[in-house]
Amino acid sequence: MSSKNTYILGIESSCDDTAAAILCNGKVLSNVVANQAIHEKYGGVVPELASRAHQQNIVPVVDQAIEQAGISLSDLNAVAFTKGPGLMGSLLVGTSFAKSLAYGLHIPLIDVNHMQAHILAHFIEKEGSEKPEFPFLAMTISGGHTQIVRVDTHFKMTVIGETIDDAVGEAFDKSGKILGLGYPAGPEIDKRAKLGNPKAFKFTKPKVAGLNFSFSGLKTAILYFVQKQLKENPQFIEENLNDICASIQYTIVQILMDKLKVAVKETGIKRIAIGGGVSANSGVRDALKEAETRHGWTTFIPAFEFTTDNAAMIAIVGHLKYLEKNYADQTVMATARLKL
Ligand code: KG4
Ligand code: ZN
Repeated sequence: MSSKNTYILGIESSCDDTAAAILCNGKVLSNVVANQAIHEKYGGVVPELASRAHQQNIVPVVDQAIEQAGISLSDLNAVAFTKGPGLMGSLLVGTSFAKSLAYGLHIPLIDVNHMQAHILAHFIEKEGSEKPEFPFLAMTISGGHTQIVRVDTHFKMTVIGETIDDAVGEAFDKSGKILGLGYPAGPEIDKRAKLGNPKAFKFTKPKVAGLNFSFSGLKTAILYFVQKQLKENPQFIEENLNDICASIQYTIVQILMDKLKVAVKETGIKRIAIGGGVSANSGVRDALKEAETRHGWTTFIPAFEFTTDNAAMIAIVGHLKYLEKNYADQTVMATARLKL
């Protein structure tokens, strides 16, 4: 292999996906994700089961990433891993593995903030995909987080708004649970929303000051609404499922877009990037595309494989930090509540 190439292994284990990816000069050579089906029957992630599954998956997933990339371990220039935020038991598996591997190979170890990675996923080298110019606004929308971030450089990021209770992904998942959908419900609500009428039912939007979000009230409003309708018609959910999903999704998209409009007005920045699992949502993607013509924004929407948790996004942060020789040492620790 040419010594001019930079090969970074990224490892992600913050929640319920065990993932490994290899990047060469910022381009994806492999991006492997093992999902943990075990949590479906519990209707949410069970931390103890997640860490056990990571332990089983981590070596096979890394092996597969190396094999698919067509390289060998000795080609690696650095190992990047998710330090946090996330579930402690899950983070520990990836962290310990990354530390041992870097130690054994005598190569740099690089710690990565998962939320920064959702944003910097836009810097993965890919033909035909443009990178956002600085400064830009990033909205990270996932099962664990909902934030609006002002991004001035790769590493200078300021949170200017965030949820005061549930994350937007939880709003999807908890609403889905009320409707009897499987976990995580976000993708199914999205699928059904395409077949339903978004204005069939109206849910009130929360009133939260400034750029902060709140989603717990919406979940309660949906619960009471469904309970009331079921009293009158026990088949209400089955008969109206697509319309309910479309109406929930419409309300959530409106909440996100309203705050983005305020953020653009306050900062004067019209470049908007999104990241995180909920950025796979078709309603969110369509609304952002529409805002390009309607409000003159430039929007950056990640490819599907980089929306939900993946290790390519961890590896790109690793790559950018590697170029700056910004390494961690072997005393680095997983941090469940790591801030941006
Ligand atoms: O980023 P992610 O994979 O994990 C976290 O860091 O949380 O996000 C997972 C979240 C889940 O809440 C899931 O329901 C949601 O992303 N999600 C979606 C869609 N795809 C995934 N929500 C709405 N529409 C989708 N298409
Ligand atoms: Zn995530």
